[in-house]
Amino acid sequence: MSLQCGRFRQPHHFAVGILTHTSRTFRTRPKHVFEMDQMTFQIRDATPSDAAAILPIFNQAVLETTAVWSDQPSDLASREEWIHTRVSKNLPVLVCEAEGAILGYAALSDFRPLDGYRSTKENSVFVDITQHRRGIGRALMTVLLQRARQIEAHAVVAAIDSTNAASISLHGSFGFAEVGRLPQVGQKFGSWLDLIYMQKLL
Ligand SMILES: CC(C)(COP(=O)(O)OP(=O)(O)OC[C@H]1O[C@@H](n2cnc3c(N)ncnc32)[C@H](O)[C@@H]1OP(=O)(O)O)[C@@H](O)C(=O)NCCC(=O)NCCS
Repeated sequence: MSLQCGRFRQPHHFAVGILTHTSRTFRTRPKHVFEMDQMTFQIRDATPSDAAAILPIFNQAVLETTAVWSDQPSDLASREEWIHTRVSKNLPVLVCEAEGAILGYAALSDFRPLDGYRSTKENSVFVDITQHRRGIGRALMTVLLQRARQIEAHAVVAAIDSTNAASISLHGSFGFAEVGRLPQVGQKFGSWLDLIYMQKLL
């Protein structure tokens, strides 16, 4: 893929347009097209067939980072199930696509399974490591929060490793505030990990 794109620094100047409905999508949803510098990409709803592209993005984070507190890489079936579980509950799973390649994805999940948590969702966002700092995470978050409002979520919670400066900064820029910190509740690569909860009320 040859995307010629400098890192843009004015994320609020997104050209966001709802262009079309398409029969290609799993559910018929609008696409959101972002144009930054010389790069054009779309944020659209994921289908189970996107699992193959999501898998290496997720596994890179599993194997090389503390963004995911798992030691074992995932597989295609489990990523397909991950998409299906959310879509079947009307929870958004979004992918960022450019020139036919999936560059990142984001989703909302149930925060906890009990009924009383029905209006609280947990968000996740992952961008292909080769595409970081190009505005894709911000674009995914922008559309994800729009969708959170559409499904009438009241609170969105992000559970973030305390050393994940990129994610903490990204969420902070969307108005998420730290509401909790759990010291040493995780471990990976031989170290204890602290968990930060960041929350945004919609
Ligand atoms: C966090 C992540 C999704 C950000 O995606 P991205 O496409 O690189 O982010 P963007 O280019 O849209 O940047 C948006 C904002 O995020 C923050 N950010 C992104 N990368 C950063 C970094 N390396 N250091 C500090 N802040 C960073 C900044 O606030 C940035 O705004 P700015 O460009 O105006 O400074 C990406 O780093 C990623 O996929 N990380 C691995 C998975 C992960 O940690 N997911 C979150 C789990 S809670």
